[in-house]
Amino acid sequence: MESALQQLEDIEQEALKGIADAEDAESLDRVRVEFLGKKGRLTRVLRGLAAVPAQDRPQIGQRVNEAKERLARAVDARKSAIREREREARLSGPQLDISLPGFGQPCGAIHVLSRTMAEICDILGGFGFCIAEGPDIEDEYHNFEALNIPEDHPARDMQDTFFVHGGRVLRTHTSPVQIRVMESLQPPLQIIARGSVYRHDDDVTHSPMFHQVEGLMVDEGVTFSHLKGVLTAFLQRIFERELPVRFRPSYFPFTEPSAEVDIGCVMCDGSGKADGVCRICKGSGWLEILGCGMVDPAVFAHVGYDSEKYTGFAFGLGVERIAMLKHRIGDIRLFYGSDLRFLKQF
Ligand code: DAH
Repeated sequence: MESALQQLEDIEQEALKGIADAEDAESLDRVRVEFLGKKGRLTRVLRGLAAVPAQDRPQIGQRVNEAKERLARAVDARKSAIREREREARLSGPQLDISLPGFGQPCGAIHVLSRTMAEICDILGGFGFCIAEGPDIEDEYHNFEALNIPEDHPARDMQDTFFVHGGRVLRTHTSPVQIRVMESLQPPLQIIARGSVYRHDDDVTHSPMFHQVEGLMVDEGVTFSHLKGVLTAFLQRIFERELPVRFRPSYFPFTEPSAEVDIGCVMCDGSGKADGVCRICKGSGWLEILGCGMVDPAVFAHVGYDSEKYTGFAFGLGVERIAMLKHRIGDIRLFYGSDLRFLKQF
């Protein structure tokens, strides 16, 4: 009996020392398992009770249980102490520098063509033009005939036009929207039509699908000076500088008189020279940028407008061309290639 109690006392002392010496949660747990675990040393004492005389068993059993409780409390206390010490160490250790820059999130951006389109429409919207829409698949009447482009006109050539079954075409320009608007509205009107157009054409500066913005203004007393004023102001805004603008006589079936508009070359500033002859304007100092004119009375006749009473101007421009000149992009195919190295520059 005495020796069993002594043995118990020794085990408890040894366990208390192990607990006090444990420096971290793992070594503390090892001590706990060694003494209090299912196969631990105190449990083994309980199992050994069979060999103890029956009258001594209750006392020894009770002492084992008391020892177990004391040790369990000692383990808990030591566990809290270790945790507290680790917390102190964390708080007094090197501090987190929250002024360091974080890792940036990669973020998408509006495509340069969409942005150019939006800029064009914003500027013209500011001049009072409202947005009108028309279909991409057009009938030949709206795409050609009503615009005074007769059956035998070269613009109807198979080379340029994509034909769709049922006598329809992929619109070759946004000008048919002019006709659709005038068929449904009476003057005064002032609209722009934006969107995709399609031509059988494919090289560095031409794509089978590209984008145009068309403008139309009809009222009593609209003159060529209005057209010049609107387009000059527009071009200076879109290119963000006071560049020279000139109107060069030209021909379009749906306008009379017609003009092509040139701006001073954005590369050589109109000098024609940039490391030799300027590549962009080929030395002329001018860049053709859009087509325009006064609406031909033959067009008014198709939509039933009185051309004695009303006059109007129209213009059409290529969005890709403006974006290419504005951002000095050399190949139209870059717009459609989804190459992030290109897109990320904008
Ligand atoms: N539709 C012409 C084209 O695609 C562009 C154009 C020229 C539109 C003169 C017009 C205009 O409204 O008056 O080449």
